[in-house]
Amino acid sequence: MHYFSCVATKLHCEGVSVEALARKHGTPLYIYSQSTLSHHFKKLDTAFAPVEHLICYSVKANANLAILRTLAGLGSGFDIVSGGELQRVIAAGGEPGKCVFAGVGKTEEEITFALQRGIYCFNVESEPELARLNRVAARLKKTAPVAVRANPDVAAGTHAKITTGTYENKFGIACEKVEGVYERASRLKHLRLRGLQMHIGSQITTVEPFEQAVARLAPLALRLKDRHGIEFFSAGGGLGIVYQPALESGAAKWWETAAAADILTSQRYAARLLPLVKPLGLRLLLEPGRFIVGNAGILVTRVEYVKRTGKKNFVIVDAAMNDLIRPAFYEAYHEIVPVVRRRSQSLATDVVGPICESSDCFCKDRILPRVEEGEYLALLSAGAYGSAMSSTYNGRPLAAEVLVNGNRAAVVRERQLVAALWAGEKIAPWLK
Ligand code: LLP
Repeated sequence: MHYFSCVATKLHCEGVSVEALARKHGTPLYIYSQSTLSHHFKKLDTAFAPVEHLICYSVKANANLAILRTLAGLGSGFDIVSGGELQRVIAAGGEPGKCVFAGVGKTEEEITFALQRGIYCFNVESEPELARLNRVAARLKKTAPVAVRANPDVAAGTHAKITTGTYENKFGIACEKVEGVYERASRLKHLRLRGLQMHIGSQITTVEPFEQAVARLAPLALRLKDRHGIEFFSAGGGLGIVYQPALESGAAKWWETAAAADILTSQRYAARLLPLVKPLGLRLLLEPGRFIVGNAGILVTRVEYVKRTGKKNFVIVDAAMNDLIRPAFYEAYHEIVPVVRRRSQSLATDVVGPICESSDCFCKDRILPRVEEGEYLALLSAGAYGSAMSSTYNGRPLAAEVLVNGNRAAVVRERQLVAALWAGEKIAPWLK
């Protein structure tokens, strides 16, 4: 579900022409739809209304301050993975008291900062981390609220690089060992055992893995509640979104599916999880990232060259793998559409960026409408893990970002200045 649509032949974000934004702000350009963001947050919030819950938006998916502010305004909490993300949340007006801090490598400095700011909970990934939390909390004369991330050993059926809930990877503590860990942790005076957490992976498009994992952990959560008084259970993030609507729904064009259901709807997700979660009598936490922001963003790029070799039709664009790494990194699919549809003829096309790597390629041999130099293309569903994973590889400044709300549009990230690329660098004295 999203608020991008085609009006006559022109792509719009809510009430604003994408072409007009590209001309005004240049490309590559990320454009976000605020209504799409809010819609997804509210959908999930409503679906879980039958239980006391807190949605902690996963900041890593897209940490732009305007996005964080929008969500904070809707009452969202935040799932953070670094001191830097906590500072961003605070800068955007989010409440530390609604933040959960995940990650296998929290440093003493990060723990100190998070304790001083009074976050809701640390999601702990190992026993040495519990010991460190206890030590730092003692030094600050505070109590650290903790939840252990239990690994339920469930395969999420997603890409190998984004699955996390099996014993093959570095995350969490095996569920059989969790009770022993709580027992030992209960003897550490500066810890408060506040919850139990899980997260099995990302872009999960069926409800079964979630259901299996929650069912596996529910009895454990009840025992921990009785014995240690935990107050919440977190089901993590991971809800998938539609990247390839033509395949999912049979619709010929992306914008025709504007009203179509997400693959795994929030209603279906809630309907299957609520019966497992409600009897626990615990507060439920959710940590969605992609579900909230994925379909709320697009990346607009200009065609620089069309290069037709005997075998191939290459469309060389001004966005590259540094702006959106998902296709290169995960072989991820992003729908590509012309911002203005000028011709009906289509042909097999490779859309590639200017970076000197063969993996700098957004699609291969995909049937796309014919485009010419100077026209714009939009890479869709790029709101999550798009700008957030971008880099300046090949001396390319970070793209500008615009937020749209109805008929209004505002720059929410200036295009990075080229001089900023080496701003922190210095010539060693012996080279001067
Ligand atoms: N909670 C934890 C503990 C996580 O590790 C993650 C994501 C989330 C929540 C949010 O997951 P989501 O709801 O967005 O699926 N860069 C990859 C995705 C990496 C996800 C990492 N962890 C991609 O572009 O597909």
